Amino acid sequence: MSSSSSLYTEIFGVVCVVLALIKTAQCYKPVIIIHGILDSPDELVGLKKNIEEAHPGTNVTIVDLYNDAESFTRMWTQVSDYSQKMGAMMNASKDGVHLICYSQGGLICRGVLSVLPYHNVDTFIALSSPLMGQFGDTSYLRFFFPHFTKHHIYEFFYSTYGQHFSIANYWNDPHHRNLFQKYSDYLALLNGESAKKNIRATQWKRNFLKINHLVLIGGPDDGVISPWQSSQFGMFDKNETVVEMRRQKVYAHDVFGLRTLDKRKAITTYTVPGVEHVLWHKNQTVFDNCIKKWLR
Ligand SMILES: *[C@@H]1O[C@H](CO)[C@@H](O)[C@H](O)[C@H]1NC(C)=O
Ligand SMILES: *[C@@H]1O[C@H](CO)[C@@H](O)[C@H](O)[C@H]1NC(C)=O
Ligand SMILES: *[C@@H]1O[C@H](CO)[C@@H](O)[C@H](O)[C@H]1NC(C)=O
Ligand SMILES: *[C@@H]1O[C@H](CO)[C@@H](O)[C@H](O)[C@H]1NC(C)=O
Repeated sequence: MSSSSSLYTEIFGVVCVVLALIKTAQCYKPVIIIHGILDSPDELVGLKKNIEEAHPGTNVTIVDLYNDAESFTRMWTQVSDYSQKMGAMMNASKDGVHLICYSQGGLICRGVLSVLPYHNVDTFIALSSPLMGQFGDTSYLRFFFPHFTKHHIYEFFYSTYGQHFSIANYWNDPHHRNLFQKYSDYLALLNGESAKKNIRATQWKRNFLKINHLVLIGGPDDGVISPWQSSQFGMFDKNETVVEMRRQKVYAHDVFGLRTLDKRKAITTYTVPGVEHVLWHKNQTVFDNCIKKWLR
């Protein structure tokens, strides 16, 4: 960058801070950050700082809800409370907001964007999020359910009792489709795969399609999201071969708007190797290359 353009950037930054302080205008839309499972806002302050430094004057809020072990609460309960909090922030930001939703937070955001008819989200950034569900042995699973492996835990997750846990709501076992359709009380509904008819499906799709841009960030060295392509709407088939987004049924049938967004050229996918799951929001290269430019 030449010195005159960096001087320009600095002056622009100062003006943005002043405008934000006196609440007359904002150069950048507010950013709302949603944390992941067994996680809390403390973990994400680095990302918040990064945004504030890159774009001075941005109002960045990390939503302080369902922290740590509470993040295992069933998804609809969380979505209902997140919708209230995020809805109030959106109503207070007439030019719209951006979302950065990390890990399980990305699925929370899918729910919020489906049920809130008045949302004004410009860009939805899903940061290593199991958007098509999870099927894999992870340390999280072993910690809470030490006696199960990924091939057996469906017996517990796909039950009325099991569905009290968030991870069960989006557990996506490719070998037990009927049970997924019968029991999954969240992902199967969002994906139009539930045995229960969703009378709100059309409304949900209309709401979701109000976003201007969808940014999907993930990578092969994640180590937690399984398959990692779930962060980009891929999922295993019966043979545990990964089927990518454009070959998924939800895409072909445009169940909640993925194909429409894609045709609108509103989906940007980043595949970044060399990043472990817990480091996505701390990695400067990821911020600079995949996040920063969307937060305008
Ligand atoms: C936001 O505004 C809409 C009307 O535009 C209203 O229905 C909704 O209740 C408001 N949400 C919150 C959380 O205040
Ligand atoms: C930033 O956003 C939060 C949440 O919407 C709001 O409470 C706060 O007043 C905003 N701050 C400024 C300086 O606009
Ligand atoms: C699974 O693998 C078998 C044998 O390799 C093949 O015949 C079948 O078509 C595959 N099924 C899917 C869903 O890809
Ligand atoms: C940050 O991400 C880059 C890829 O963009 C990767 O090569 C690097 O190892 C990562 N750094 C850390 C500390 O994870």
